[in-house]
Amino acid sequence: MRVFLTGGAGYIGSVVAEELVASGHEVIVYDDLSKGHRDAVIEEATFVEGDVLDYDTLLGALREHAVEAVVHMAARSLVGESVSHPADYYRTNVTGGLVLLEAMRAAGVSPIVFSSTAAVYGESAKQPIEETDPISPTNPYGETKLAYEHALRWFDRAYGIRYVSLRYFNAAGATARCGERHDPETHLIPLVLKVAAGELPEAVVFGDDYPTRDGTCVRDYIHVKDLARAHVLSLESLARGAESRIYNLGCGGEGYTVQEVIEVARDVSGRDIPVRKGPRRAGDPAVLVASSARIAEELGFRPALSDLREIVASAWSWMQAKASHRDAA
Ligand code: UFG
Repeated sequence: MRVFLTGGAGYIGSVVAEELVASGHEVIVYDDLSKGHRDAVIEEATFVEGDVLDYDTLLGALREHAVEAVVHMAARSLVGESVSHPADYYRTNVTGGLVLLEAMRAAGVSPIVFSSTAAVYGESAKQPIEETDPISPTNPYGETKLAYEHALRWFDRAYGIRYVSLRYFNAAGATARCGERHDPETHLIPLVLKVAAGELPEAVVFGDDYPTRDGTCVRDYIHVKDLARAHVLSLESLARGAESRIYNLGCGGEGYTVQEVIEVARDVSGRDIPVRKGPRRAGDPAVLVASSARIAEELGFRPALSDLREIVASAWSWMQAKASHRDAA
């Protein structure tokens, strides 16, 4: 299939591009490079630089490349930032997403796989969270992703654009080529590894008074390569005519606390990681752990790299390789 991948210059997007190509698909990456990096676009992909708010460029690219399916990942995705800058989140995640759907309608393109988030659930009363559990986002990031899921439902009904919405829990880890490189970095695993590497003086734990086993937040970390594979499975099932679906995407189990992640990072890197306790971060739910039973049952998806050690080790190797490449340059 010829797949149009918005956000394909980003962390998760670059790995999705790799998996699509490895599965025999042709990839057209569409990215404005506001967050992503030109050198993260894998060389096997065609690159179009553009904004998701730019209808003409989107429509032109969909037509020119005779696109057959879309994976929509371009978005603003930081929980804390979304609380202080909701306008940016509504503009890109809702308005930009709708412009893309309009361009897809005009070009006659369906289906779409959408990057949604566990943040749609907010503080869930029950763990692990199932897709049928109540949704109540605690931040604008989750709210905007939920708004787009609703739009997808109505666009499917009225215009027959079928979709899979993947509600990611915490993506982490790296492949040999692609890893996490945000600027500024806000995610826990790359931050603690930067401390291990001596690039930052200390890690800060955002709150240790949550109702969890050690007082720090629990998250469900899924290897980015597993996450990427789920996109390929979703796309291929839609291509076979499957109906629109929403799936959680995590590893389940007990999840890991912030403290446990730091311990694993110390162990994997063999380095000291000084830690300071800080206040809670706005918009953070205490626990987010997925039930991925639905995607396992319907698409046969099971994470292959669900051990946190393996996930953190892959991120650490990628960082080390990048650093030695920098030193050699
Ligand atoms: N944390 C710290 N210190 C840090 C950074 C993070 O204690 O320096 C904590 C956070 O408070 C949170 C946990 O580590 O409890 C994980 O934080 P991340 O920023 O790594 O990830 P989030 O859980 O905030 O968000 C990620 C994605 C979202 C997605 C969410 C779903 O960025 O897109 O997972 O679980 F919605």
